[in-house]
Amino acid sequence: PEIGCLSIIVLGASGDLAKKKTFPALFHLYCQGFLPPNEVHIFGYARTKISDDELRNRIRGYLVSERSASPSKDVSKFLQLIKYVSGSYDAAEGFQMLDKEISKHETSKNSLEGSSRRLFYLALPPSVYPSVCRMIRRYCMNKSNLGGWTRIVVEKPFGRDLGSAEELSSQIGELFDEPQIYRIDHYLGKELVQNLLVLRFANRFFLPLWNRDNIDNVQIVFREDFGTEGRGGYFDEYGIIRDIIQNHLLQVLCLVAMEKPVSLKPEHIRDEKVKVLQSVLPIKDEEVVLGQYEGYRDDPTVPDHSNTPTFATVILRIHNERWEGVPFILKAGKALNSRKAEIRVQFKDVPGKKQGRNEFVIRLQPSEAMYMKLMVKQPGLEMSTVQSELDLSYRQRYQSVTIPEAYERLILDTIRGDQQHFVRRDELKAAWEIFTPLLHRIDNGEMKPIPYQAGSRGPAEADELLEKAGYVQTHGYIWIPPTL
Ligand code: BG6
Repeated sequence: PEIGCLSIIVLGASGDLAKKKTFPALFHLYCQGFLPPNEVHIFGYARTKISDDELRNRIRGYLVSERSASPSKDVSKFLQLIKYVSGSYDAAEGFQMLDKEISKHETSKNSLEGSSRRLFYLALPPSVYPSVCRMIRRYCMNKSNLGGWTRIVVEKPFGRDLGSAEELSSQIGELFDEPQIYRIDHYLGKELVQNLLVLRFANRFFLPLWNRDNIDNVQIVFREDFGTEGRGGYFDEYGIIRDIIQNHLLQVLCLVAMEKPVSLKPEHIRDEKVKVLQSVLPIKDEEVVLGQYEGYRDDPTVPDHSNTPTFATVILRIHNERWEGVPFILKAGKALNSRKAEIRVQFKDVPGKKQGRNEFVIRLQPSEAMYMKLMVKQPGLEMSTVQSELDLSYRQRYQSVTIPEAYERLILDTIRGDQQHFVRRDELKAAWEIFTPLLHRIDNGEMKPIPYQAGSRGPAEADELLEKAGYVQTHGYIWIPPTL
C-alpha cells in the first residue's frame, strides 16, 4: 500500500450531496480505520465564508454510526480532521489558498515520508466542472517530486444529452487523463449490484440458463414512495430518465446482460459493458410509457406546464446472440406506492400445463435478498402445487455483517485506484446515445407523460406495456422477507 499524506478535498462542502453522502461516507471509512488520522487531511471548499467550526457544525448532524464503539467521541475526532477553505469556483485565489493549506500538511514533520495523494471530490453541479478542473489542474496538482497522484471524482448529471455530455467529457479530458477521473454511479456501489458478476459467472446454476432460450423477460425496477419535494428545481431540469434510468438502471442492465470479461481487471469489465450498450437497438415510442404524478406541479420550483416525467417504463432490446428477442424492461418512478429496487428475471414457461413461472429476483434495497420463485408440492396430504421460494435474505444469513453504504465503498475505491465500479468515458457516451433521441422528443413536447395518482403503481398503461412485452404477473404470491 502507498504511504504518505492523503488529502481529500470536498468541493461544494456545504451542499446537500456533501452533507448527506460524502462526509458521512468519509466518516464511516474513518471509523473503520481506512483514514488514519496521521496520514489523512480533509478539506471542505465552497464559496460561503464560514469558519472551520461552522462547517463542522453543519455536517455533525449527518454523522451517525452504528459501527463504532464510541460514536460521539469518533464524531469529534473525525470533525477535527476537517479544515475549511472558501473561494470561488473559477478564480485563482481560492485554489492557490487551498493548495497552500494542502501542502502545509504534506511537508510538515508529522506526515509520513512518501508520496502526496490528492483526491478532489466535486460535490458540485456539472456547470462548474470545467472551471473547477481547470483551477485544480493549474494550482492544486500533487507535487510531482514527491510522487503520488491527483484524482477527481465527479457525479451525475454528466450533461443533459449526448452532445452536452461529450462536450463536458472533452473539456475535462483535456485537463485530466482517464485514469485520474472517477465518474461515480452510486448504484455500482450497492452490495447486490457488486455481487452480480460472481453470481452469474461462478455458478453452474446460472451459466446455461442465462440467455434467450430460457429467459422470457428481465425487469429492472426502481420505485420511491416520495416525490421530488425540496429538489423540484433540479429534478424538473432532468426528469426520471436522466435521474435514474440512463445511469443507475442502465448500469445494472450492463452487469446483468454482459458477456464474461476476459479477466476481472477494470478495463476488461468495462469493455464488456460498452459492448452491451452498443448492442442496444433504438427505443421505439410504443415501448415507452411516461407518467407524472398529480401534484408534482404544485411544487413552487416546478413550472406550471412542466412536461417532465416522474415515472417511465422503457423497453430496451439488445441485439446480440444471447439476448435477441428478450425485452429488458426498465422502470422507475417517484411518488409510487412503495420504495424498492430490484432485478426480476422471469423464465419461460415449462412445456405442458401452464403453471407459475420461475423467477429469480435480486432485491437491491431495502432488505437485500435474492430469491428464486419455484413450484413445489403443497406440503401436506393433498397432491397439489404451489409457488414458493428459495430465499437468501442477507439480514438473516449474514447477521453479523453490516452492509457498507455505496458511497463508502466507492470512495475507498478512488483512494485505492480501482476504477472497476466507475463509468468510463466511452460507456457514458454509449449510454447517452441510447436515450438522447427519446429525451429530445420529450423535451420538445412530442411525448407527454400520463398523470398518475401519487402513492399508486403509476399509470395503468405501464402495466399493459409489461404484459404486452411478455411479463406474466403471478397473482396471489407475495414474498415475505423473513424476520429475525
Ligand atoms: C439519486 C437520484 O441518484 O439516487 C435521486 O438523483 C434518488 O433522485 C437516489 O432518490 C436514489 O438512491 P438510493 O440509493 O436511495 O436508491
